[in-house]
Amino acid sequence: MSENGRCPVVHFDHNSEEHSADPVASYRALRQQSPIAYTEAWGGYWVLSGYKPLFEAARDDDRFSSARLDQYGGEGLSVVIPKTKHPFHIPIEIDPPEFRKWRKIINLITAPAAIERMEPIVKHYVTWFIDQIIEDGQCDMADVIGVPAIVTVDWLGLDVAEWKRYASAFHATLVAKRGSEEYRQAVEVDFPYLEKRTREVIAARRANPTDDIISYLVKSEVDGRPVTDEEVFSMVDLLLSGGVGTTASLTSNTVVWLYQNPEVRQRLRDDLSLLDKAIEEFLRFFSPTQALARTVTQDTELQGCPMKQGDRVLLAWASANRDPEQFENPDEVDIERWPNRHVAFGLGVHRCAGSHLGRAMAKEMLTQILTRMGDYVVDESALKPYPQQGTNNGWMSIPATFTPGPRVLQGSADPEAIPSY
Ligand code: HEM
Repeated sequence: MSENGRCPVVHFDHNSEEHSADPVASYRALRQQSPIAYTEAWGGYWVLSGYKPLFEAARDDDRFSSARLDQYGGEGLSVVIPKTKHPFHIPIEIDPPEFRKWRKIINLITAPAAIERMEPIVKHYVTWFIDQIIEDGQCDMADVIGVPAIVTVDWLGLDVAEWKRYASAFHATLVAKRGSEEYRQAVEVDFPYLEKRTREVIAARRANPTDDIISYLVKSEVDGRPVTDEEVFSMVDLLLSGGVGTTASLTSNTVVWLYQNPEVRQRLRDDLSLLDKAIEEFLRFFSPTQALARTVTQDTELQGCPMKQGDRVLLAWASANRDPEQFENPDEVDIERWPNRHVAFGLGVHRCAGSHLGRAMAKEMLTQILTRMGDYVVDESALKPYPQQGTNNGWMSIPATFTPGPRVLQGSADPEAIPSY
C-alpha cells in the first residue's frame, strides 16, 4: 500500500472478477482500510466507500460533477467507470443550475401521484407474468422479474412486442462482461436497432401525440422552446436504463434471500403491510445500483484527501449502505429498521427520479409472488449470478418450484399474445 497525500492507494477494481465474487466483503475490506482510497485501475479513480465522504461528495455538484466532460476519463457516459459508449443522458449528465429545468420535466411523470395512476398497469403485467407459469409449478423466477422492463416500455409508449430486446440490451451493458458475446450483441446489434426504433416512435408522436410519456416529452418546453427530438431521445434512453435493470435486481435478490430466510418470508406472507419498510431494508441491503461516478472539477480536498481537477470518483452506494458508523448491525436484514437513511437511490439533486415507480413495481411483484407462489423452493445449486456486479447486482437465473395455482387473466397462457394494458 502506498500513499496519495494522506490517503491510501489500494488494489481495487469494482469491475473485476475478484470484486464480483463477493462485493460486500470486498467493500467491507476497503472501507475498513480507508473510507476514501485511490486505485490505479481504469486509468485511476477515487473510491468513496464510507457513508460520510460519499454523503459530502454526492451533495456537492460544484466540486463533484455529473457532466459529460470528455477530456477527463475519455468519451462516454459520465456516471460510470470506465465510461461506456452510451448516448448523452438527460438529466443525469447535467449539473445544476441547467439540470433543474430538465428534472422538472421528469418529476411531473414520476411523482407519487403519477405513479399511483400507474398501479393498474403494474398489477396487470405482474399478473400476466405469473399467469405464464402458475399452472406449471416450476419456473425461472428471473423471467417473472421481466416486469420492470415491460412496464417501462409500455409506459414510455414504445412497442411492447419488443420489450425483451430492450430488456436484454440494457441488461447486458450493465452486467455482461466486456468482450463477451452477449455484450457485443447488445452494443453492436441491439442498441443501433433499438435506437432507430425509439427515434421512429418519437417522430411518430411528434406528428400524432397520444397519451403516453413520449408524447408528453415531445410536447414539453425548456427556456420557452419545444424540447427537440434529440433531447427527448436522451431522456427516454435514460428512463429505459434506469427502469429496466434496477428493480429487477432488487426483486431477484430479495426473492432468493427470502427463500434462504423462511421465517422472514412467513412473516411477510402473514402480514403484507410489513412490505413497505421491508423493501426499504432490501434496498439498503442489496443496493441494486452498486456505485456511480463523478468528476472532480477543481483541485480540492475531501476529508483530508487531496484531489485534482479531472480525477474520477466512484460513489459506492452499496458500501455506504453497509457502513457501521451509519447503520447498526449493517450486515443484518431488519425488515422493520426505521429510520433507514439508505442511499440506494443516491443522494442530492440526482437522487433517483424513478424511486416511486421502482418501489411500486417491487411491491406488486413481491406481493403476488408471496400470495400466489409463496411456498416456492429455489434450486440453489442452479442459481446463476450476474457475471459482473460492479454497477448492478443480482441473479440471471433463479430456478424454482412451487405449488401450482390458477391463472387470473383470460387467455393469458399464450406468451406471444402480450395483453397490452
Ligand atoms: C430499485 C430501483 C432503482 C434503484 C436502486 C435506482 C437507483 C438510482 C440511483 C442510485 C440514482 C442516482 C444517480 C446519480 O446520483 O448519479 C438514480 C437516478 C435515476 N434513476 Fe433510478 N433507480 C431505480 C429505479 C428507477 C426507475 C424505475 C426509473 C425510471 C423509470 C429510474 C430512473 C432514474 C433517473 C431518470 C435517474 C436520474 C435522475 C437525475 O439525474 O436527476 N430509476 N437511480
